[in-house]
Amino acid sequence: MSPSILAPSETEQHQQISSQLLHWIEQFQEATSQGKCADYIPALRDMNSQQLGVTVIGTDGTMITAGDCEAPFTLQSISKVLSLIAVCMEYGIPHVLQRVDAEPTGDAFNSIIRLEMSKPGRPYNPMINAGAITVSSMLAGDSVTQKMNSLNNLFVQLIGTAPVLNEEVYESEWHTAHRNRALAYYLKDIGFLDGDVEGALEVYLKQCALEVTTKDTALIGLILALDGYHPIRQEQVIPKDVARFTKSLMLTCGMYNASGKFAAFVGVPTKSGVSGGILTAVPPRYRSRDLPFSDGCGIGIFSPAIDDVGNSVAGSLLLKEMAQQWDLSIF
Ligand code: DON
Repeated sequence: MSPSILAPSETEQHQQISSQLLHWIEQFQEATSQGKCADYIPALRDMNSQQLGVTVIGTDGTMITAGDCEAPFTLQSISKVLSLIAVCMEYGIPHVLQRVDAEPTGDAFNSIIRLEMSKPGRPYNPMINAGAITVSSMLAGDSVTQKMNSLNNLFVQLIGTAPVLNEEVYESEWHTAHRNRALAYYLKDIGFLDGDVEGALEVYLKQCALEVTTKDTALIGLILALDGYHPIRQEQVIPKDVARFTKSLMLTCGMYNASGKFAAFVGVPTKSGVSGGILTAVPPRYRSRDLPFSDGCGIGIFSPAIDDVGNSVAGSLLLKEMAQQWDLSIF
């Protein structure tokens, strides 16, 4: 079921929320100049850094959008959420935990240091590159195509379609992925990468180059917010334990080494990617009945100018404002 079939609501309250979102977009758009597009992946460098868009989807399927909500962007690290869900659904959480831990690092997302400092070198969590490459190598299937198919099957369950691979971004990163290649070969050496190293790297970089819009990420956020229940299909598409495990990792590790402050001052399970995407799952809040989306919602944000840590500058400010004004924090 594609979010595009959801009609934007026309009620007065939704029009107020829509105007509010538009106002915030205008307010935070100038903050895009404080960041810059990721330049270590050449194909991302040339994105229009001034874009800022948002989609919010509520439990009844109401979708409210503003700004560049339909601009396509590659998932990058947001894909780590999906590959984690896929392997947990395939093998169960205990098996996945034997291969990748669930502890924050406080290090940069592409850091290599802890793999050697801790024995036996199990990656700390699936939201950093080391852990995500291990997870990609575990995806069901014996070939890159089969592994991508198993990931795409999950997307079909969630958003009704398999995202298109942005070949230019994939090729661009494949040729410059020296750090990720080093991580992958090191993981192989210490026994935390299944199968062929270059194949695992190919799967990892392809999942990062899958293209979506904020409507897709908002819908995925909504399903996670509801513990894996798809309110439009009216079906449990992710087991509850897997959805909760994933959200806990998004909260503790999803914003790289800014995750602690993000949890403290925004307070909702969120995952970002270096192309400027942000996926947020807002669970129901029973003490905020008079505020928008108190039944829970999914939020998708896109704004490609990122800070030094790797998070979207304007996107983070927008999400923080939404969280404060709508009392979204889970704490
Ligand atoms: O592997 C990379 O560096 C990118 N494809 C994704 C990085 C990203 O979005 C931040 N990672 N946590």
